[in-house]
Amino acid sequence: MTSEDKTARLGAVYQAESVDDVARVYDLWAEQYDGDMSLAGYRHPAISLAMLARHVPKGAGPLLDAGAGTGLIGEWLAITGYCDVDALDVSTGMLAVAERKGVYKRLHKAALGSTLPFSDHHFAAIISAGVFTSGHVGIEGLDDLLRICASGGILVLTVKDKLWQTSFSQRISDLQAADICSLVDDTGPYVSMPGEKGTTPSRCIALKLS
Ligand SMILES: C[S@@+](CC[C@H](N)C(=O)[O-])C[C@H]1O[C@@H](n2cnc3c(N)ncnc32)[C@H](O)[C@@H]1O
Repeated sequence: MTSEDKTARLGAVYQAESVDDVARVYDLWAEQYDGDMSLAGYRHPAISLAMLARHVPKGAGPLLDAGAGTGLIGEWLAITGYCDVDALDVSTGMLAVAERKGVYKRLHKAALGSTLPFSDHHFAAIISAGVFTSGHVGIEGLDDLLRICASGGILVLTVKDKLWQTSFSQRISDLQAADICSLVDDTGPYVSMPGEKGTTPSRCIALKLS
């Protein structure tokens, strides 16, 4: 695949208009995804993993990797001592690559933004990298993640800065005012793919459930 192909795929996902569109693009991209993201200098997995490790003790579980893709984060979670991790994604192709890595306990095909197939307060922590972004998932994906995260649990999310400014910032202020969670960490804006021209900033945040 050429760098033009990679840029075209990124363009297609950012402009996707439905969950099915997103899943189709990722199904086709799955086998090349890890190599392409490495070339783009993709930073979200490393930054979100560092944030998780700062707030969640080694060995805690169960954890959910929400929008796990090919399991880049799952591999590193396993190496650093988090071994009870589920993966969730809308793309069968991405989940198939993740499954081959053998780092997740269970894999779930489901869409953030709908009701997720887990009981209330099930996960000790949730990590989601590269998912709350243009053409993927917006603020509508947050409430059900809060529902399935345990009291005292941690939610680590990367959020495209444009989404932060238009919806997340206000919603998280409201959630804090209602004592549902508190914002315990925030990197501020950074570029997630320095090797990809025109990438707009994102941030990585951690929420602690009350
Ligand atoms: C940029 S990739 C990030 C994958 C992985 N977290 C990583 O950092 O490499 C975005 C992933 O989100 C998934 N995705 C997009 N919309 C989704 C949704 N509504 N629910 C669940 N997964 C979704 C895509 O299928 C894709 O695997």
